[in-house]
Amino acid sequence: MAGNTNLAYRRLCRKYGAEITTTEMVSAQALHHGDTKTQAILERGDDEFPVAAQLFGSDPTILANGARIVEELGFHLVDFNMGCPVPKITGGGGGSALLRDSIRASDCVSAMSEATSLPVTVKIRTGWNSPNEAPQVASDMENAGASALTVHGRTRTQKYSGKVEYAAIQQVVQAVSIPVIGNGDIVDLDSAKLMLATGASGIAVGRGALGRPWFFAELRSLFEGTPPPPPPSIPERMQILLELGKGVCALYGEQRGMKNMRRLAADFFKSSPGSALSRKKCSHLNTLKDLQALTEHFILQLESSRPNLAPER
Ligand SMILES: Cc1cc2nc3c(=O)[nH]c(=O)nc-3n(C[C@H](O)[C@H](O)[C@H](O)COP(=O)(O)O)c2cc1C
Repeated sequence: MAGNTNLAYRRLCRKYGAEITTTEMVSAQALHHGDTKTQAILERGDDEFPVAAQLFGSDPTILANGARIVEELGFHLVDFNMGCPVPKITGGGGGSALLRDSIRASDCVSAMSEATSLPVTVKIRTGWNSPNEAPQVASDMENAGASALTVHGRTRTQKYSGKVEYAAIQQVVQAVSIPVIGNGDIVDLDSAKLMLATGASGIAVGRGALGRPWFFAELRSLFEGTPPPPPPSIPERMQILLELGKGVCALYGEQRGMKNMRRLAADFFKSSPGSALSRKKCSHLNTLKDLQALTEHFILQLESSRPNLAPER
C-alpha cells in the first residue's frame, strides 16, 4: 500500500503471520529511468520470502524491463497493478484504466511474463463500472500469462467506498484455473470467512492491517484451525509501534524515517480510548525519542484512567 508497506512494516506483518508480502506500487517508467526514490521503495530483506514487487504502467516494453529489474533485485514475484483508481495513474493508461483496455493489459502481462522467469501476478478490481466485467478481465489475464490474481471486490467507480461484491469474486474464481486471492474489507475473522466462502485460495489484507500488524496472527489461526490469540495489550501495542519506528529509521535514517512514521504511528492509536490527542501528536514526531515519549505518555495516561490496564485488551 502506497506510503505504508515499507520493508519494516512488511517485516512486522510477516512476524505475525503474513505469508506473502508486497511492496507498494512503483512506476515501471521511473524504474526504467533509474529513479533513486523508486529504487528506495524496492528495498527488500533477505528474510522476506516470498515477497512481490508491484509495478504499474501501461507500456509493455517498459514493464518488461521493470520485471527484469525486479528479478535482478531478488524479488520472488512481480505483481502488476490494474486496480489503482487514482486519476494521476489512470490518466497515463495504468492502474484500473487497463480494466477497460483488455488488449493493452494482455500485452503488458505477456511482455512481463516473457521477460522474467518469476511468476507474474495481477491485481484487478471487479471492473471499471460494473462488477460483471471481472470474469472476462480475469480470463484475459490468465491467457496472457498471469500466475495468480488478486481481486479487490469493488469497481473503479466505487473507489474505496460501498460494499465489497463477494459474488463478483466468486465469478472470477469460477472463470479461471489460476489461484484467486480475495481482497477488500477484511477486518476481522468474520469478514475473512466471508471472503474465503467465495472459493478464493487466499485473502489479501490492506487497511485492516494498518496500525494492526498482529491481525495476521488472528487470520493465521483461522487457516490453522486454532483458537485466535488475544490481541496485544495497549503496552504491547506501544512496543510494536516502537519496533516499527526503529525499523523505519534504520531504513531511511531518523529524519526521513520519522516523517514517514507520523502517519504510520497515528494508525496504532486508531481504536484506543482517549487516543485523539496522541494521534494529533503523531504529526509532530521528529525523533525516535519523541516516539518513545509519546508511547510512554499514552500508557501512563491510560493507567491513570484505568488502574487495571494490564488485562485490558
Ligand atoms: C492508502 C492506500 C494505498 C494503497 N496503495 C496500494 C498499492 O500501492 N497497490 C495496491 O495494489 N493497492 C493499493 N491500495 C489498495 C489496497 O491494497 C486494497 O486493495 C484496498 O484498500 C481494498 O482492501 P482493504 O479493504 O483490505 O483495504 C491502497 C489503498 C490505500 C487506502
